[in-house]
Amino acid sequence: PLIFVLNGPNLNLLGTREPEVYGTGTLDDLETLCAETAEGLGIAVDIRQSNLEGELISWVHEARARAAGLIINPAGYSHTSVALMDAILALDIPVIEVHLSNIHKRESFRHHSYVSRAADGVICGLGFAGYRLALIALSDILEEDQ
Ligand code: DQA
Repeated sequence: PLIFVLNGPNLNLLGTREPEVYGTGTLDDLETLCAETAEGLGIAVDIRQSNLEGELISWVHEARARAAGLIINPAGYSHTSVALMDAILALDIPVIEVHLSNIHKRESFRHHSYVSRAADGVICGLGFAGYRLALIALSDILEEDQ
């Protein structure tokens, strides 16, 4: 099975962006972790990052046809994008939302995520490990479905 891993705006700056919040690992490091985890689980991943809301939405549409599951860190769009939520609501594959930081510990405008209304599961506050755990969870869910 193929899993899409989509990262939203500013996550290309990982490593240098507010390292006290997001850590010092880079997007490259994160993508390597996801690829290695997926390989160990025997699943394929298509990992992408975009700063553009419309591009993320188009990739969610693409996932409808191609992916067995979706992991998404919508970053700032989590808190603003009804359109991204709607795109995910139109999916009938399992979806896990991931945030590196614990959004509930932070400013109140980060406490609400539109995307959470469309996600099957949400992981936050565990840094890069959140993506690894999301891949393990999706792999379990897809095995159960077989
Ligand atoms: C984030 C949390 C969001 O509030 C923020 O806008 C991000 C990253 C996280 O991974 O912790 O860009 O999604």
